[in-house]
Amino acid sequence: MAEQRTVRYAHIIGWGKHIPSKVITNDDLSRMVDTTDEWIVSRSGIRERHIVASSKETTASMSIAAAKEALKVAGVAPDELNLIIVATATPEYSFPATACLVQDALGAENAGAFDLSAGCSGFVYALAMGAQVISSGAQDCVLVIGAETLSRIVNWHDRETCVLFGDGAGAVVLRGSDEPGGVLSTLVRADGSGGDVLMLPAGGSHQPPTLDTVAMGLHYVRMNGREVFRFATRVMDKAARQVVAEAGLTMGDIALFIPHQANLRIIQAAARTLDVPMEKFFINLDRYGNTSAASIPVALCEAVEAGRIQPGDHVAMVGFGAGLTWAGAVVRWGVPRPPAPAWRRALDGLRYVAAGVRSRARRLQRRADAWLFGSPAPKTIDEGGIKSLR
Ligand code: ACO
Repeated sequence: MAEQRTVRYAHIIGWGKHIPSKVITNDDLSRMVDTTDEWIVSRSGIRERHIVASSKETTASMSIAAAKEALKVAGVAPDELNLIIVATATPEYSFPATACLVQDALGAENAGAFDLSAGCSGFVYALAMGAQVISSGAQDCVLVIGAETLSRIVNWHDRETCVLFGDGAGAVVLRGSDEPGGVLSTLVRADGSGGDVLMLPAGGSHQPPTLDTVAMGLHYVRMNGREVFRFATRVMDKAARQVVAEAGLTMGDIALFIPHQANLRIIQAAARTLDVPMEKFFINLDRYGNTSAASIPVALCEAVEAGRIQPGDHVAMVGFGAGLTWAGAVVRWGVPRPPAPAWRRALDGLRYVAAGVRSRARRLQRRADAWLFGSPAPKTIDEGGIKSLR
């Protein structure tokens, strides 16, 4: 007889963010490129953005900081995690995945880890994937991160792009529960025919880095702003309607919309077509600019901190971005957890120190094994193996 599986609901039980401390205001930018505070505010709503200040601050370091905060809020130990997904367009390396660096730093011994590339929709894509592995019963505890270091791929001489972007990271912990609620519906979509509208032309297998690609500035963000704008205003409305309906709700049931923080005009256009008052949209792009995959989780954290989300509230998140991609999710907010006791926080600190020691010890052991035992297989393929190739 087939095994009866109870439905699992994926609840957001922890959240955290990391914003780098260095601030660049519109006035700072007006001294770098031909622009003004008035132009940037009136066209985008952005007043300032935070960017990484040193080579030590990276997508991985910000992800780790946000993740530690989210785990602390959740009261979850790193070894309880089954999966870590980092949504990013600015990974630490092409490989290994930034998620693996996070796994190592946290000491998440029981977790798989991978990066997800879906531009600014990345966090909502990752949330959808995390929620689905939980509701399928395959996993129980998933860390979902959206993190970007866009300042490293923006051309600071190009006024059409450099005024828009910022850096940061946000994370949530998802946990399975029998209690109905959590992530109620998700939607992920793509239209690859618009890939050239927003891209990083070189550095991949299509155009590997050469002196020419560097000289031509092909390692910087290229964007057709007007095309992205048109696409965004179209899909924000469509995605919001679809994902809210799939949750069995109406627009009036949504307590707070957390849209991708790219441009205030795009959000205002969506509010108009959805016939939802602007007060129901959480906005922080004036302080951070567009932080791509980090924008929605950072906004979610700030909305919770500001008391804009209460237990039982329905929250809708909608993102759009490179790919072209778009995505939405509706969440019923759960019961807040009491803060972790002080001894537990102290233990967390020790855990991360132990994770660092363990990571170094494993590297050393790998070297020692190679030195002592050499290769585990013979140096050449044996005759039988060669015959099987013929
Ligand atoms: N300062 C002053 N003038 C500028 C600047 C600037 N920073 N940037 C462009 N201009 C000029 C242009 O050169 C143009 O001049 P022209 O008329 O002489 O040719 C004029 O301003 C108007 O340019 P538009 O492109 O028409 O300006 P628009 O009103 O469309 O606003 C903007 C531009 C803000 C980029 C808008 O199109 C936009 O927000 N698009 C969406 C961008 C976005 O969201 N991207 C992220 C997607 S998500 C992801 O995955 C990363």
